[in-house]
Amino acid sequence: MKILRTPAELKLELQNIRRLRPQVTVGFVPTMGALHDGHKTLLQKARSENDICGLSIFVNPTQFNDPQDLSKYPKTWDSDLEMAEAIGVDFVFAPNVNEMYPDDYRYQLIEKMNSKMLCGKDRPGHFDGVLTVVMKLFNLVQPTKAYFGEKDYQQLQLIQGMVQSFFMDIEIVPVATVREATGLAMSSRNMRLNDAEREIAPLFYQTLTHAKTDTEAINVLEKNGFLVDYVQDIKGRRFGAAKLGTVRLIDNVQI
Ligand code: PAJ
Repeated sequence: MKILRTPAELKLELQNIRRLRPQVTVGFVPTMGALHDGHKTLLQKARSENDICGLSIFVNPTQFNDPQDLSKYPKTWDSDLEMAEAIGVDFVFAPNVNEMYPDDYRYQLIEKMNSKMLCGKDRPGHFDGVLTVVMKLFNLVQPTKAYFGEKDYQQLQLIQGMVQSFFMDIEIVPVATVREATGLAMSSRNMRLNDAEREIAPLFYQTLTHAKTDTEAINVLEKNGFLVDYVQDIKGRRFGAAKLGTVRLIDNVQI
């Protein structure tokens, strides 16, 4: 497994691979690290469906609007590499911020409609940061297929929209949300829940699933100590975001 630290290193590695095997298929999983079983499922799918399997680990500063959230984002580099190695990942791209943003984020990819609702409403610029970094990663890796979790459904749809709008020749593969036995969606941020918060966190998924209306879900969650950002039903899917202490949980379920 190769660890590549700069766009130049990554490009050289992929050029070498493609020179020898022009038809090679590349499956790519972009992440911010602190890998858990959700990421693992994406990586296993990418591994099984492609000749080459690549992972990126980059905590992308332009998609954080809360500096606390950015500085507290969990980092588990050694166990991330162990997981990647065990799955048979071929390369891990882990650049630093200056290498990814040589222009200091002067050039940005902006989506003007769907990025402004749900998670985009309280987090201005969040999805522009996501789209910009994913576009950069796609341009560097030029994957055949790229894998995204339905846990971040709005993100998945925005990336599908970007690929269509810019005529990018990449297949976006959606992967169902991986949950703990309690129903709680796996998330890197779950590591920051304290014991008491962990106990009630599963209520988030359970309430989104069982409440009859979005208003009822909001009421149940607030009664149980969640600070609800939004719960909203859109086209047969219920989307929710809520804070438990300092940790922000997001989830979505089919209704
Ligand atoms: P991150 O939160 O690390 O997630 C990386 C990928 O794993 C995303 O596609 C996300 O939807 C997926 N994922 C996370 N938890 C999951 C779960 N429980 N079940 C299934 N898939 C899950 O999402 C990002 O990073 C960033 O925004 C990124 C796309 C890397 C751009 O910076």
